Amino acid sequence: MKIAVYPGSFDPITFGHIDIIERAVTLFDKVIVTVSQNFEKTPWFTAAERCEMIKDSVSGLANCEVDHFKGLLVDYVSRMHGTAIIRGLRALSDFEFEFKMALMNRSLAEDITTVFMMPHARYTHVSSSLVREVAGLGGDVSMLVPDHVARMLKKKLA
Ligand code: PNS
Repeated sequence: MKIAVYPGSFDPITFGHIDIIERAVTLFDKVIVTVSQNFEKTPWFTAAERCEMIKDSVSGLANCEVDHFKGLLVDYVSRMHGTAIIRGLRALSDFEFEFKMALMNRSLAEDITTVFMMPHARYTHVSSSLVREVAGLGGDVSMLVPDHVARMLKKKLA
């Protein structure tokens, strides 16, 4: 069974993330979308809230699970018997960070391969940080996130 782990902050999940998940589930037997700690970021939503939003977004995908963890990503992937890490690449600006992370993860665990996937071009500009900014300033995020996520953003801002 080929198992892939899609880690990220997902703060919150966007249509860009969902596009990547929908592509990944066609390539792997199981995809585990997991909320992970990024030491550079202070999240808006708790891990439980982010998992809930992801679960609501992927409920139609039979071979997709949602989880969260603390600690080193490669240790988590090994524990889950995964062989691949999925990461989305939107633009050249993502590349340097992703390149370093993929090589660091490979140096920590040679048997785990990072697979980069591109979302549909219509999501190239979509990021969780911009979604938070637009929502925080009262803008319309309905083109960027599912309705249930837009509602969670409103609730958080209230
Ligand atoms: O969505 P993000 O914030 O770009 O995701 C980055 C994330 C969470 C995948 C990365 O920070 C991570 O892997 N964190 C877990 C801790 C870890 O293993 N760090 C070393 C990465 S080389």
